[in-house]
Amino acid sequence: MREQEAPQLAPYQVRRLTDADAAEIQDLYVRCTAFVELVEGRPPASHDGLDLLQAKPPGVKDEDKLVFGLFEAGRMIGALDVLRGYPEPDIWYLGLLMLSPETRNRGLGAQVYAATRRWVEANGGKAVRLIVQAQNDAALRFWERQGFVVIGATTQDTGERTNEVFRMEQRLGG
Ligand SMILES: CC(C)(COP(=O)(O)OP(=O)(O)OC[C@H]1O[C@@H](n2cnc3c(N)ncnc32)[C@H](O)[C@@H]1OP(=O)(O)O)[C@@H](O)C(=O)NCCC(=O)NCCS
Repeated sequence: MREQEAPQLAPYQVRRLTDADAAEIQDLYVRCTAFVELVEGRPPASHDGLDLLQAKPPGVKDEDKLVFGLFEAGRMIGALDVLRGYPEPDIWYLGLLMLSPETRNRGLGAQVYAATRRWVEANGGKAVRLIVQAQNDAALRFWERQGFVVIGATTQDTGERTNEVFRMEQRLGG
């Protein structure tokens, strides 16, 4: 990877996750059951941890699929999924930011995103994109507070439910 390997957020540790971390990601998903039910329409499934590490849109290279864990005192308290250069070369796509419930509502998500944004800028990204399910009001407020704007809307079929989703973007730099 060019530039910094991962977003920096002392005193937390942020490191790239591998298949060896799948069980710990799975444990994080279980703690985040309410979120999984809200967006997927089902409880966490045993394959969710591995799916986060492996799922990517067609055409995205393995080296551009970056999944990070956020650790506090050695325990995974968050996960971040980033696609570099997707869907266009200068755009980076946030597939997931998910924090363990007991760490929410104290500004940590804003700090994680600020660190991610600095890292994307340092690596030449010109914009960040993501989607938010319309029923996830807290996330929609969160991303708007971080400076994202809605650039479109679409639907998402999870297999269990059809979500209305907002496509959001933040332009970076000047
Ligand atoms: C969305 C998410 C990443 C936000 O992270 P977070 O750390 O909770 O975010 P913040 O603490 O910055 O903001 C959350 C709320 O806490 C409030 N808050 C922030 N700092 C605070 C503080 N020091 N004291 C009291 N409240 C505070 C914010 O105003 C915000 O309030 P709101 O929900 O009424 O708008 C996190 O809630 C999460 O992981 N959710 C589940 C997964 C998810 O929805 N991910 C996004 C998918 S698109």
